Amino acid sequence: MPTVTLTIDGKQVTVPKGTTILQAAWQAGAFVPTLCHDHELSNPGACRICVVEVKGARALVASCCAEANEGMEVQTASPAVIEARKTILELMLDNHPEDCLTCHQAGDCKLQDYAYFYGVKAGVFGGQKKDYQVEDDNLFIVRDMNKCILCGKCLRACEEKQGRAVIDFAYRGFRTKVSTGMDKPLADSVCVSCGSCVAVCPTGALTEKAMLGKARKWEVEKVRTTCPFCGVGCNFD
Ligand code: FES
Repeated sequence: MPTVTLTIDGKQVTVPKGTTILQAAWQAGAFVPTLCHDHELSNPGACRICVVEVKGARALVASCCAEANEGMEVQTASPAVIEARKTILELMLDNHPEDCLTCHQAGDCKLQDYAYFYGVKAGVFGGQKKDYQVEDDNLFIVRDMNKCILCGKCLRACEEKQGRAVIDFAYRGFRTKVSTGMDKPLADSVCVSCGSCVAVCPTGALTEKAMLGKARKWEVEKVRTTCPFCGVGCNFD
């Protein structure tokens, strides 16, 4: 198999041709955060938190969707990279509820983890916040679109893992949201509540109703199972 050799933070690493910079960086032991990336799904490069500095490139590169090339020199934690990641997190937090103390996802939230890691706080820009009603009329899933960071993992999991495409991005600009067709509640859509979207959500936007108020995520053992709901037989964790 053809390979390429590149340098990540001064360390040489050889990877199969076609490997992304992100995978090469992880192979080299570098810490590169991700929010919209999932190795089982397509890579839209939506969140940009994985940016790295590539010598000779005119701008920072989203490492999850850029191929590693021969001779590349990559910096995963240069001042420009850290600054960019902090700004991305500040923008996300500015449009996010500040209820981490009572959020069911606290302690298992990538947004919270990265904000802590980079020392980023909410309220830097003081802009408008989303104000959606929390949707909990579905038997299995609670949706709080105020906590959605628009990474799109849920809709890619729905389409690419389950072949259903029940949800997609709707509206534009600040009002962009993940929505069912005609923006109906999940309970009135063709969603079969398989839970694939919940399993990949990096924040508290999607929650299993059965978990709410009963246990924190890390207190529950996950097993691979088959959804009994409609007879399709979807498997998920
Ligand atoms: Fe690379 Fe989101 S993880 S753009």
